[in-house]
Amino acid sequence: MEHGMPDDDTVKAALSLAVRAPSVHNTQPWRWRIGDRTVHLYLDPTRALPATDPDQRDMLLSCGAALHHFSVASAALGWSAVVHRMPNPDDPNHLAAIELVRHRPTPLEVALSAAITRRRTDRRHYSSWPMPPGNHGLLIERAGAFGAILRPVTDLERDRLVETVRAAAAQHGQDPDYLFELTIWSGRHSTPDGVPAQNAPSPRSGDELPARHFAGAQLVDSAHEPDSAELLVLGTSADDRVSRLRAGEALSAVLLTATNVGLATCALTEALEIAELRRQVRVGVLDDSAYPQVIVRLGWAPSSAPALQETPRRALDEVLDPFEISD
Ligand SMILES: Cc1cc2nc3c(=O)[nH]c(=O)nc-3n(C[C@H](O)[C@H](O)[C@H](O)COP(=O)(O)O)c2cc1C
Repeated sequence: MEHGMPDDDTVKAALSLAVRAPSVHNTQPWRWRIGDRTVHLYLDPTRALPATDPDQRDMLLSCGAALHHFSVASAALGWSAVVHRMPNPDDPNHLAAIELVRHRPTPLEVALSAAITRRRTDRRHYSSWPMPPGNHGLLIERAGAFGAILRPVTDLERDRLVETVRAAAAQHGQDPDYLFELTIWSGRHSTPDGVPAQNAPSPRSGDELPARHFAGAQLVDSAHEPDSAELLVLGTSADDRVSRLRAGEALSAVLLTATNVGLATCALTEALEIAELRRQVRVGVLDDSAYPQVIVRLGWAPSSAPALQETPRRALDEVLDPFEISD
């Protein structure tokens, strides 16, 4: 980068944290480029899941989460990110051009950046301990900063949502293309992408909310109590690509905020990957007034639960274009 901009080592340090972002099936569907004055984020269409995510919504959410992780990490390193979303009308996969401006990190930015390496997708049962006071308000505010609404699901809405998630699992269970994709992207051992067997609990027949049936699931869930996770639905007023990208940024803000107070989280999108079921969530949970983008499970992992292994990522070299570009 040019004089007056962060050096490449600083940008790469921020990118190393950005790629810790959650992504659908751990596909990591992003590419990055360092320019003279800006860092660029691209959606990588070679990482698409056509049967699972036909309209690339989950991919855009994943890239949005990586964009927010990058902004948080840069801010903690002393560079505030000024994000230009969809900067090139001729290239819909060019998702963001990010300018970096010198800045004094705030304690919140440092705390959220530190949460990046502690966050895990935790698919185990959560305990029934109550939420910290004010927690919902804080998460709603953090999602709202990206134009998203975050709706804690009430008991009545929960029954409807659970039915929809079950219907999605049943439909997907009969869909060979979906199952093929899930099988090649999960049950992994020591690979830098996909969902590792060690992070997916084997299916539990008595569960109210079925988890995605990842292949080869090996995680032992030592919790004996039923799952007491809260459910929240994150939605947006529009459903275009920018809204989906921003929803991913909001998701990242919610997950890192929750991690920062010690809460466990898991993003869920299976029910939203089938258009009719997504419409049911819109009507049944969001009063037909917002587009559901992702469901979040939130709660406390039981104190007896062992720490989860980190899900691997591809090396930065694999997702960073090797040549600087002039911009
Ligand atoms: C858009 C999106 C959709 C996801 N959908 C699900 C899901 O339906 N079920 C699930 O168990 N995990 C889901 N995840 C979590 C990913 O599988 C997880 O982020 C990835 O395996 C990397 O693991 P980590 O989050 O522990 O780093 C989703 C994540 C994102 C960003």
